[in-house]
Amino acid sequence: MKRSALVSLLPLAVAVATPATAAERDAPTFYGDVLPVLQMHCQDCHRPAGANYGGMRAPMALTTYAEVRPWARSIARTVAAREMPPWDAHPQHDGTFANERVLNQAEIETLVNWAGSGAAPGDAAEAPPPREFPSTGGWVVGEPDLVVTMPEPYFVEDDVDDLYAAFSYVLTEEDLPEDRWVVAFQCKPDSDIIHHFNLHLLPPDENGELPAPPEFPNQDQIAPSPENAGSYMGGVSSGSDANRYPEGYGFLLRKGSRVTFDIHYHKEAGEGTGKWDQSSIGFVFADEPVERSLGSGLRPIMNFTFAIPPNDGNHQVGPYSTVARRDTDIIALMPHMHMRGKAARFEAFYPDGTTEVLLDVPRFDFSWQTVYYYDQMKRIPKGTRIEYTAWYDNSAEKAARYGFDSNRTVRFGQPSTDEMMMGFMMSAGVSGPGSSDPGGETPPRSGDH
Ligand code: HEC
Repeated sequence: MKRSALVSLLPLAVAVATPATAAERDAPTFYGDVLPVLQMHCQDCHRPAGANYGGMRAPMALTTYAEVRPWARSIARTVAAREMPPWDAHPQHDGTFANERVLNQAEIETLVNWAGSGAAPGDAAEAPPPREFPSTGGWVVGEPDLVVTMPEPYFVEDDVDDLYAAFSYVLTEEDLPEDRWVVAFQCKPDSDIIHHFNLHLLPPDENGELPAPPEFPNQDQIAPSPENAGSYMGGVSSGSDANRYPEGYGFLLRKGSRVTFDIHYHKEAGEGTGKWDQSSIGFVFADEPVERSLGSGLRPIMNFTFAIPPNDGNHQVGPYSTVARRDTDIIALMPHMHMRGKAARFEAFYPDGTTEVLLDVPRFDFSWQTVYYYDQMKRIPKGTRIEYTAWYDNSAEKAARYGFDSNRTVRFGQPSTDEMMMGFMMSAGVSGPGSSDPGGETPPRSGDH
């Protein structure tokens, strides 16, 4: 606790300023102990509406004493249960992923003890300066080299609560006269009713042609299909921010590509709640070709033939696997499931016979489609087999919470009431500069056998 450290350093000064009992002195205070933890671990999402961007939003702000005090007990409960901050990976991975949202034991105790000891404000002079956030108008990736905006403003009607929409735009000669390497991009919402916002890219074929654009908006679909929108590149969703790649890594943005804005609008339905939106995506280019091309490593592990039985609360699909055909750096892992997703695991089987659980997600939550970015890239040798397994909960209890039908067999499908079994790995082959040749020559549907 910061304040106790201060107390022991300056016993005289503090004793004079606050003649208190030992117990009172040790009780954490809001300004001295709690606020720093909230700033660091909670305010990314818990801050006043409008100031945040992407899906980084939560029902209440936790920035001032007045805002936080009524939530003290709820905060203590949720942090002790590791429900907040939301982070679904098993604690065995603490320290592994760069974007982890995890409190250490001391931080948990600070919040719990503060709530348990009367939730005192303490001395406002001890408060750290308020945290500053990028405004919705700001580019957190820096000034982009190319900004692409939805071709038309779109009005999200009053009666909408959830709406999956896709808008597409084809890059002109003027936008992008030549192929460029992208080292960062940001999906920047224009309104505060965006739950998630993803970028998909589809380069033209050898004849310079593109298929018909995706048809949207659509209440039932959760994402545009790869056939007309191309590859999912990332985006912003609950708790994630801009996409920035490690030094030397990037992807090639081809001239004439179709850029698809894949947006989930979410708000309360009701008169006067309708809003206009015209969001943008900013790309930052490398000056030189990058050394490693994203996508030149492992293929995703997917299965399209599974069938989840009615009312089965723990149905396992897989493991299915892929093999690294060259030394590969894994940059990030991402399990993808829909509402019935329950748990997921990536496991590596190394050529020397050893195995390692790369990512265990024991409590998958559909609301948090987390991309797990390695803090130190994970190098796996050629010949490593990666297995991906997913578990689903098609029980009546979960159905009641999410509003799906548990009395039917569930198969692969785009709507969030159908399912997906996808283990994405953002990776790059280690050999070959700037190569976009896919290194993991495994069958595209490795789950079929
Ligand atoms: C990545 C975004 C995010 C972060 C970071 C985050 N929260 Fe939350 N929090 C949410 C969202 C969204 C909800 C509402 C939905 C839910 O309960 O899951 C929520 C709900 C809560 C609730 C209400 C729970 C209830 O039972 O009603 C509390 C208390 C809370 N958060 C505390 C915290 C604290 C304390 C931290 C930091 C230690 C934190 N949160 C960090 C997004 C976040």
